[in-house]
Amino acid sequence: MSKLKEEIKSKDAAQEKLEIYLRTVAHIGHVEISVTNFEKSLWFFTEVMGLVLTESEGDRAYLRAWQDFDHHTLVLKASNTSEVNRMGWRVSSKESLELFENQLNEMNIDYQWVEGGRKKALGDALHFKSPSGLPIELYWEKELFVTDDPMLKSNLPSHPSKYTGKGVSPRRFDHVNLMVNDVKKEQQWWTDLLGIHHRYYIQNKEDVRLGSWLSRTNIAHEMALMRNSNQDGAAFHHLAYYLDSPDELIRASNLMAENDIKIEWGPGKHGTSGAQFIYVIEPSGHRVEIWTGGFLIFSPDWEPIEWSSEVGQLGLEMWGSTPPETYLTYGTKIGE
Ligand SMILES: [Fe+2]
Repeated sequence: MSKLKEEIKSKDAAQEKLEIYLRTVAHIGHVEISVTNFEKSLWFFTEVMGLVLTESEGDRAYLRAWQDFDHHTLVLKASNTSEVNRMGWRVSSKESLELFENQLNEMNIDYQWVEGGRKKALGDALHFKSPSGLPIELYWEKELFVTDDPMLKSNLPSHPSKYTGKGVSPRRFDHVNLMVNDVKKEQQWWTDLLGIHHRYYIQNKEDVRLGSWLSRTNIAHEMALMRNSNQDGAAFHHLAYYLDSPDELIRASNLMAENDIKIEWGPGKHGTSGAQFIYVIEPSGHRVEIWTGGFLIFSPDWEPIEWSSEVGQLGLEMWGSTPPETYLTYGTKIGE
């Protein structure tokens, strides 16, 4: 008898496996950031980046890229500090949320339920923090983007809104990147609790983990964790939107220069993901990455790839540039 058959003979073991299967996230959905210069940041994300403003209400604006199917992938909130307030992950089934609640209770992790409707376009959500204090939001229900505006409505059913070519005009929201003191510990927690696969990582000569890249879907990463070289806690490093081609990345670089937006680093190419990038600082101080390319992962038993200290530099940038000091030390705050 195979090992699996032996295991599923036990109802408890089968139940446990089913629970773990159901208790997982499906994909990253959105990021909410507070901004000190709301008007200027909104201008940057709508006019320079070319994101679509789904709606604004009070001190918040809800934005998405032209082929983001959801109501929003980015929330801007007016504030007197620039920080990340929440990273939203959709869970893999309706049942997942309660299974996660059970698991959080077992692990003695504090959490709060946020009732559906209290947050724009979202159903019930579960809020809690990672060991490094990263604010997580799990949800199942989220409204899709729909419009009757002839300026936005596309003839193509696969396009939730028209490709207008306005500003950078990225196709979709891609990932977030956070700095933490202990990358290895944080990565293991995200993989063990949330089922987000570990894709690749960089170790230094002293065998300290400098970075880990994780995803639940087949893109190279939906979240990155980088070692905070200041070792002063967690910080928000960047959010990223995806473009179709290197031509568009060069066009985006020109648009940044013309609009007085500082390009911190790039264009360059990460060896790890194979993606080409620029990093810019938006008007309230958050770092934003625009990128294109990168490999996809299809294997269900993927083993994380190690980039050792000998090849680590190629992983960071393979054409010869080195990141400015700020890239390794600067981030915005993590919200309460
Ligand atoms: Fe990135």
